[in-house]
Amino acid sequence: MATLNRRDFISSAAVSAALGTLTPTSFGIDEEGTIDGPIAISSANGLRATAKAVDLVKQGADTLDAVIAGVNIVEEDPEDMSVGYGGIPNEDGIVELDSCVMHGPTCEAGAVAALRNIKTPSRVAQLVMQRTDHVMLVGEGALRFARAHGLKETNLLTDKARQAWLRWKENLSDTDDWVPASQSGFGDARSDATTNIPFTYGTITCSILAPNGQMSGVTTTSGLSYKIPGRIGDSPIIGAGLFVDNEVGAAGATGRGEAVIKICGSHTVVEAMRHGISPQQACLHAIKRIDQTTKIARLRRKDGRPNFDVKMYALSKDGRFGAASIWSGGKFAVYEGGRNRLEDCAFLYERNS
Ligand code: GLY
Repeated sequence: MATLNRRDFISSAAVSAALGTLTPTSFGIDEEGTIDGPIAISSANGLRATAKAVDLVKQGADTLDAVIAGVNIVEEDPEDMSVGYGGIPNEDGIVELDSCVMHGPTCEAGAVAALRNIKTPSRVAQLVMQRTDHVMLVGEGALRFARAHGLKETNLLTDKARQAWLRWKENLSDTDDWVPASQSGFGDARSDATTNIPFTYGTITCSILAPNGQMSGVTTTSGLSYKIPGRIGDSPIIGAGLFVDNEVGAAGATGRGEAVIKICGSHTVVEAMRHGISPQQACLHAIKRIDQTTKIARLRRKDGRPNFDVKMYALSKDGRFGAASIWSGGKFAVYEGGRNRLEDCAFLYERNS
C-alpha cells in the first residue's frame, strides 16, 4: 500500500507551490524559524555518524569535515559489511570502495570509485575536491592519489568478509570446481548454509545543516556484494548517491545503485524540494520514479513490483527532513532537537503485501 497516493502527492505539491513557502514540521526549528542546533540525517547504520557530525559542528567544525568524521567511524568498523574496512568484496574477493562528498558553501564536490586498500574513501573524495582540479578519480589512479597524500594502505578484506565471499563462490554453481563444505564430505556442513551468505547494497550517507545555514553531505560504500570488478554504483556519482545545494537542501541514497543512477536520484530529490515539496514527499517522488522506470521483467516480482529496495534521505535548508523507501520497514537516523534516534521511512509498498 502506498503511503502517499498520486492525488495526495500532486495536491500537496500544488499546495506547497502555491504557498511558495515550506511549513516547518521539524522540532529543531523555533517559532521564528531559526534552527536551534545542527541537524544531521543518515541511513540507519549512521547513528554514530550523526552524533559525531553534530558534535563537531557544535564545536565549530566545517560541515563537510564533520560528516566525513562521522562516516569515518563506520568506514573503519569491520562489523559493518556494507562500508569501508570489512565490506563484502567483489567477485574476485577484493574490496573496492566508492564515495563522494559535496560541500554546500563552496558548491564543490569530489569522488572516488573502485578504490582499493584505503579504509576511508570519503577522505580521499574530499582530497580530490580540495587538492585537484577534478571531481572524480577511479581505480589505480585514485589509489595512487591517496598514496601521494600519505593515506595508509590496508588489506580491507577481513576474515569474516573473506569467509562470506568463499561461501558465495562455492555455492554459485554445481558445475564448477569449487565445492561447498556441505557437499565435500569434510568439515561442518552447517557452516555454508546458503541462507547465511550476506548480500548487500548497503551504504552510509550522512548530511548536515548547521545553524548558520551551511550544509554538506557524504556517501560511502563497499557497494554491491560480489560485484563484477570495476562495477561502480550510485554512491560516488554526484546527483545519484548524493546531492547538496546549499540554498535548497541535501539528499542521499542507499540500496540498488543501478536504479538510483538511472533517475539521478539525489538530484531529483533536491530539485523537488527546490519546487517547494517537503523532504519526505521529495524522497517518495524519487522512489515512485524508480518504480515507474523499472521496466525489465527480471527486476520485477510476479505482481509487477520491484524485487529490490532503494532508500532516499533528505534534509531541507529550513531544517525539515525525511526518508522514503520502496518497501516498508526502513529506518533512518536523525539528530535533531538534541535527540539522536532512528525514525521510520515512508514507503511505497508494504513488504508483506
Ligand atoms: N548504493 C550502493 C551501491 O549500489 O553500490
